[in-house]
Amino acid sequence: RTVRLIGAPTDIGAGARGASMGPEALRVAGIAEMFTRRGLTVHDTGNLHGPNNPCLPPQGGYRHLDEVVAWNQAVHDAVHTALAAGELPVLLGGDHSLGIGSISAVARHCRATGRALRVLWLDAHADFNTHDITPSGNLHGMPVACLCGDGPSALVSMAGHVPAIAASSLRQIGIRSVDEGERHRVREAGLEVYDMRYIDEVGMRAAMDKALAGLDDHTHLHVSFDVDFLDPEIAPGVGTTVPGGPTYREAQLCMEMIADTGRVASLDIVELNPALDVRNRTAQVAVELVESLFGKSTLMRDRG
Ligand code: ARG
Ligand code: MN
Ligand code: MN
Ligand code: MN
Repeated sequence: RTVRLIGAPTDIGAGARGASMGPEALRVAGIAEMFTRRGLTVHDTGNLHGPNNPCLPPQGGYRHLDEVVAWNQAVHDAVHTALAAGELPVLLGGDHSLGIGSISAVARHCRATGRALRVLWLDAHADFNTHDITPSGNLHGMPVACLCGDGPSALVSMAGHVPAIAASSLRQIGIRSVDEGERHRVREAGLEVYDMRYIDEVGMRAAMDKALAGLDDHTHLHVSFDVDFLDPEIAPGVGTTVPGGPTYREAQLCMEMIADTGRVASLDIVELNPALDVRNRTAQVAVELVESLFGKSTLMRDRG
């Protein structure tokens, strides 16, 4: 299996600057070498290009909409090309607005190949805002809404069909920050959310058993890993930290259980912000966790 590393060095959808340095920090932390250790062939074709961050205030409820569209189109095209070539695309973000382009490409590919899609959204945030309820105008708070059909048409229609994904194909894990208007939308859409209270009450194992239930042998499993999913104690290098996230051990178990399905077919690593990190420690933790996501385990174990 060949992994295609796709760097998207932008913070165009974020509030804080710095996620644009994420791809290089992940490379410095050894992401390519890690995939090689896992027995995968790695093609790193470098970084995509797109507009600079003009740092403007929101217009009509969106900051930098045109630039976000341009970056997402580039991501969509690169991810779709990789999938069509039979490769496993790994998006090195970049902020989480890029999940629109990435997952739209996955949705397009699944539709063309007749596969079911399951998206695991590992995040402190639901990212389900719309222009009329967003507290910030930052599009990294809106990718799930866009993918589910609610947002500006250029983003909503990127997969070639609307909505790009059914809300029922999504599972959110680790959520602990949802804005007031966003809470109502999450409820109305019936999103399947395993928030931190749920994880505290039943544990990561039971939460992941549920989130991973119902996959079949052909399901395309996409993991959208917002690094702020992790507790800030282990992952300080993100723009929007929220206390009370998964510990290192909980996050490892989460990744290991996803790996055990054998179905991971595409991945986003987003919101890593080296400007806020401590000696690239958050990038290193992200690489360690992705190594588990791709099957690293301490002992040899029986499946199931
Ligand atoms: N909910 C907040 C907003 O919409 C924060 C979103 C953070 N999203 C992220 N991908 N880090 O502005
Ligand atoms: Mn996010
Ligand atoms: Mn987040
Ligand atoms: Mn509206």
